[in-house]
Amino acid sequence: MPRRRAARRPGFAPRVTLDVRVADGEGDDAFVKHLGRRCAMSSVASLRPAGESDVRAAFDRLYDIVGDQSHVTLIAERGGERVGFLLLLDRLPDEVTLRPQAFVAYMAVEPRVRGSGVGTALLAAAENEARRRLLPYMALMVTEENEAARRLYERAGYRTERRLLCKTL
Ligand SMILES: CC(C)(COP(=O)(O)OP(=O)(O)OC[C@H]1O[C@@H](n2cnc3c(N)ncnc32)[C@H](O)[C@@H]1OP(=O)(O)O)[C@@H](O)C(=O)NCCC(=O)NCCS
Repeated sequence: MPRRRAARRPGFAPRVTLDVRVADGEGDDAFVKHLGRRCAMSSVASLRPAGESDVRAAFDRLYDIVGDQSHVTLIAERGGERVGFLLLLDRLPDEVTLRPQAFVAYMAVEPRVRGSGVGTALLAAAENEARRRLLPYMALMVTEENEAARRLYERAGYRTERRLLCKTL
């Protein structure tokens, strides 16, 4: 930390630096809350429709739950501007095996810079944080219909371990 690499950009555009750092202060908190609330609908599945206000409230709740546990918040900056974040729980053992793990509670990237490697950089930095803590696994949950997120995780080497099933009653 911090991790630095050049963002992927087409043509001859000037190279823009991409940094990932640990969050620090109220400005970062406000950024995470604002972006997280704006992105939360991406995790809603058509099987269980929900209104935006409930889903935003659910993100606020998740943010508070993470804040009450041991965690690290990573912030991605491109050209000095905040463009993404990742909330990583680092003391949440796997509930089935009790093996220690790091758990991605949530991550999001500003829509205008998606597809340029910010999510990949955040995930790689989170894995480094987990390795530094000697955690042997990284886990997360993702909505089946969230193709962008599933692609990101698949490209980074994540495989399906369990499935969350749901039935409309
Ligand atoms: C999921 C998310 C974090 C990905 O961030 P990103 O910065 O766009 O990711 P990257 O640019 O590193 O892309 C990683 C891979 O995913 C692919 N990808 C990105 N957006 C995609 C899309 N809309 N559809 C399909 N694949 C997509 C990229 O092509 C890339 O694969 P490649 O290396 O083969 O090109 C971002 O889309 C986001 O913030 N979504 C809303 C919040 C969310 O869903 N969070 C995840 C909760 S589990």
